[in-house]
Amino acid sequence: MIVLGIESSCDETAAAVVRDDRTILADVVLSQLDEHRPYGGVVPEIAARSHLDHLDHLVAEALARSGTSFADMDAIAATGGPGLIGGVMVGVMTAKAIAAVSGKPFVAVNHLEGHALTARLTEGLAFPYLLLLVSGGHCQLLTVEGVGHYRRLGATIDDAAGEAFDKVAKMLDLGYPGGPAVQQAAAQGDVTRFSLPRPMKGRPGCDFSFSGLKNAVRLLIAEQPSLSLEDRRDIAAAFQIAVADAIADRTCAAMGLFAATHGGPGTLVVAGGVAANALLRETLAGITAEAGFRLAVPPQRLCTDNAAMIAWAGLERFRLGQSDGLDFAPRPRWPLDPQAKQLRGAGVKA
Ligand code: KG4
Ligand code: ZN
Repeated sequence: MIVLGIESSCDETAAAVVRDDRTILADVVLSQLDEHRPYGGVVPEIAARSHLDHLDHLVAEALARSGTSFADMDAIAATGGPGLIGGVMVGVMTAKAIAAVSGKPFVAVNHLEGHALTARLTEGLAFPYLLLLVSGGHCQLLTVEGVGHYRRLGATIDDAAGEAFDKVAKMLDLGYPGGPAVQQAAAQGDVTRFSLPRPMKGRPGCDFSFSGLKNAVRLLIAEQPSLSLEDRRDIAAAFQIAVADAIADRTCAAMGLFAATHGGPGTLVVAGGVAANALLRETLAGITAEAGFRLAVPPQRLCTDNAAMIAWAGLERFRLGQSDGLDFAPRPRWPLDPQAKQLRGAGVKA
């Protein structure tokens, strides 16, 4: 079985071809980073227009690299949400058009399901497992029970983790995107000089919060008579360790819940751009080892937004007999766990 996948829900335009033996035949990603950098964040209108400009040739490139044509596909999958709606529309319309002209089924994929099932593509991981999704738009802990079966244990009640990194980087004048810049500055900082709060630490449940921490950084900056390079590095270090510590605490709570409901420890999968953070990885390696969990981090290229994960999730759904009509309407919000309470907060949220 071979599936073409399309991703366009945020600031990466991507197309990929994946086979059911877990082979990625082609995986092309075009980042719009340079187009959004002058604005210090993703501008939805620029993103949608850019997806429209580039998607056709990215699909052609994915076909060429994989040596396939539309006729070889068993299904055409695209991110159907959640995400920036203009971009999602571009991807869905493109996939529907390909499906219509080639007479192939169309599968609308939940972007979060793409992240959730990536470890099954990369290492054939069996259900169930625990997923920590930490990106610029999402911050959630979920149990992945099966295709289409998710239980959200916790989520951010305000900003996503990556969003917090980006905003703090902006405050410290470190550039965009913030995560790598904060990590780099923190590496040269003194982590003992300032102490910042660990939001939600020790609270019942597995929810996250980062807006209080962001404000604490704002106040700390305001307290400094002048912001030297050393100050900025020390603040970046204090912020980074606070985020890693807060995420670790919430993840420990989720591992406890998972172990209690699944007869013992299992595997923790980490996905999303923030999974690139070295301190976070180190911290998660420590807490998983202590809890008897295995830590699985897919390769960075497949942790951040890509279309291989969308093709794979589409393939997993399609081989279970699921597909969508050409009347599918793109969804700005699309929670993986419909039973979970609705999320609030800015940005791209499920
Ligand atoms: O998954 P992703 O590429 O895009 C979506 O948000 O969907 O994640 C991007 C986010 C950005 O907020 C970026 O600042 C953050 O991941 N990020 C990092 C690091 N690298 C990227 N955050 C912390 N440390 C990093 N090394
Ligand atoms: Zn994503």
